[in-house]
Amino acid sequence: MNSISERLNFRTLEWRGDHLRLIDQRALPGKEEYLECRTAAEVVSAIKTMAIRGAPAIGIAAAYGMALAAIAGQDYGEAALLLKNSRPTAANLAWAVDRMTLICESHDSAKIVGEAKAIEADDAMMCRQIGANGAGFLADGINVLTHCNAGALATGGIGTALGIIYTAHFSGKRIHVWVDETRPFLQGARLTAWELGRAGVPHTLICDSVAASLMAAGKVDCVIVGADRIARNGDFANKIGTYGLAVLAAHHNIPFYVAAPSSTFDKQCCTGEDIVVEERDPAEVTSISGTRICPADSNAYNPAFDIAPGSLVTSFITEKEIIGAGDWEAGNPHGLLP
Ligand code: MRU
Repeated sequence: MNSISERLNFRTLEWRGDHLRLIDQRALPGKEEYLECRTAAEVVSAIKTMAIRGAPAIGIAAAYGMALAAIAGQDYGEAALLLKNSRPTAANLAWAVDRMTLICESHDSAKIVGEAKAIEADDAMMCRQIGANGAGFLADGINVLTHCNAGALATGGIGTALGIIYTAHFSGKRIHVWVDETRPFLQGARLTAWELGRAGVPHTLICDSVAASLMAAGKVDCVIVGADRIARNGDFANKIGTYGLAVLAAHHNIPFYVAAPSSTFDKQCCTGEDIVVEERDPAEVTSISGTRICPADSNAYNPAFDIAPGSLVTSFITEKEIIGAGDWEAGNPHGLLP
């Protein structure tokens, strides 16, 4: 039996001896193009322009960026700063760069590349475990709604939210996924629909604004999303629109699950108020595929993420434990938070 990764049959990131190869997510689903990053600066640019995106995946890319800087004899402290600042919201990015900074002190190229590979392998393992821990929440015949892309394209493995869906699907359960298109960057329409199609998971694309009426009609059994940063009280950042979905799910009494590895938990962050939300170019809102969709003088506001309160989350599904609402009140028995 092939593994889920083998069935998906693509590599989001791949270290090729002297460079990092990335699938260029800006070109999907139309074209399967690859980007070669040979310097830390090229990795910074790939992250900023969203050629690579998704919290764990940008962490792994940044780890290889640190390796490229160290091998080239560049100031890895400087590279660390540039990589960390390339996108501010995902906790995994700084987590991976900090892990690499420690090993860069060895000035041993083999060790440094080995650490980046270990970060990638650890993420793949965490995804598999999240899938195994979460698949039991999905009954045969279920309708799941997901937002953005928390799949293989967003990680070094099978994905977090989608990892759960793949694990349930390949165990023989009939799963149907409602895919939010995820305006403005369309990660749902372009990436999640592409991935689910490759895996043979039945899915239906919807405009983000359709979720409310689908829930009211009883056509959504649960929501599963990923996360970019989780604060100590359970507040979490994820793709803009996630907060609205969490409120809707609570109103309709529908389970709302957040799937994330321990590298997304930020012990320095007390509440959601401490999370920096990235604001992106308004052009992502005013244009689609280069075509302007509003008057030339209209302004746009483009926050990439929102913060949802932990109280709206039924369970956080991690590679270690399932954390329920009561667990946060009990003071972090699982050790994921201080
Ligand atoms: O702006 P993006 O595409 O990087 O945003 C990605 C998300 O919000 C994902 O849900 C999150 O990073 C989790 S990915 C496993």
